[in-house]
Amino acid sequence: MSDLIYKIYSLAAAYYRENLEKHGEAALRYLENRHISRKTIEKFGIGYALDGYGGLKNYLLKNNINSKILMQTGLFKKGNNDLYDAFRDRIMFPIHSINGKVVAFGGRILHENQPGGKYINSPTTEIYTKGKELYGLYLTRYEISKKGFALICEGYLDFLRLYEAGFTNVVASLGTALTDSQINLLSRYTNNFYMIYDGDFAGIKAAVKAAGNVIINGFTPKIITLPEKEDPDSFLLKFGKEEMSKKIENAVTLTTFLNRNKLLKLETKEKIEQLLELAEEIEDEIARELFIKDIAAGPRTFYQRYCRRISSFRIRSFFQTETEKICIKKLLRK
Ligand code: UTP
Ligand code: MN
Repeated sequence: MSDLIYKIYSLAAAYYRENLEKHGEAALRYLENRHISRKTIEKFGIGYALDGYGGLKNYLLKNNINSKILMQTGLFKKGNNDLYDAFRDRIMFPIHSINGKVVAFGGRILHENQPGGKYINSPTTEIYTKGKELYGLYLTRYEISKKGFALICEGYLDFLRLYEAGFTNVVASLGTALTDSQINLLSRYTNNFYMIYDGDFAGIKAAVKAAGNVIINGFTPKIITLPEKEDPDSFLLKFGKEEMSKKIENAVTLTTFLNRNKLLKLETKEKIEQLLELAEEIEDEIARELFIKDIAAGPRTFYQRYCRRISSFRIRSFFQTETEKICIKKLLRK
């Protein structure tokens, strides 16, 4: 059964590609306005879903697909007495599994006041589980292992802009918080995760959360800071590659990020509590030790406050790494 669903997604991807070339004038114009090149369109198989209710359905039926299976693909919705195309008048971004098969789509509106969300995504099916794939990974994994780190962004357009600018060691997590499965998938290619999220409050919060999750899974995150009003796409268009390279070079660890960031408006006490909560979740001793060492490398007073906190009764029952033991001992000696 899943073989057939793979086949349907592959047919759908070809159909959307063809639509973009033959009937996708407005969509092509939209992509051009967003500075997406022809080469990128082809490389990532970007297509267009027509503004109609039966285009994909008829195409699949013409290709001898049995109508009974259509509802299991997530590409259709149930009307009163018939199925109709779920994606209409949208730019279509195919999502590939790690072995290069199309397993889902994201569709973006082209006009401001189109109904539905700005993006809609394929639901979970037999071949696709939300939060298990990373957009672009099957095409960028080689670059990721070669460069020794991955840039993790949130959006399709952020991914494509970074890729076009030569930052090809990139993946996109696509709207959901970075999951354990995504982290473990990516860790086959690198242990170094660079979070490059929107510069606003929501983006920063998501980056902090993702970085924490990376640490819990035993890998090393860094956070890149963009100006408050920018995302990776807008930043690159406004300031260019050189400035982006600097931002990447200046990526910092989670502790340093929390320490410096003003936008989060956290008191020192709250920052320490956040780090503490995270530390409690790190079960791997080495990961925990690295995490504490990073705090120890930061401002002295910050580390001291952290030590005081871990030496308190509440968490004494948790296991302690070497650095934690030393810092607690020092405190007790005072
Ligand atoms: P953003 O709202 O930050 O959009 O969503 P964006 O990436 O800047 O998109 P553009 O530049 O306006 O095209 C980030 C990502 O979250 C997912 C998409 O994957 C999007 O790229 N998303 C967003 C959804 O799945 N649904 C939505 O309605 C919005
Ligand atoms: Mn954007």
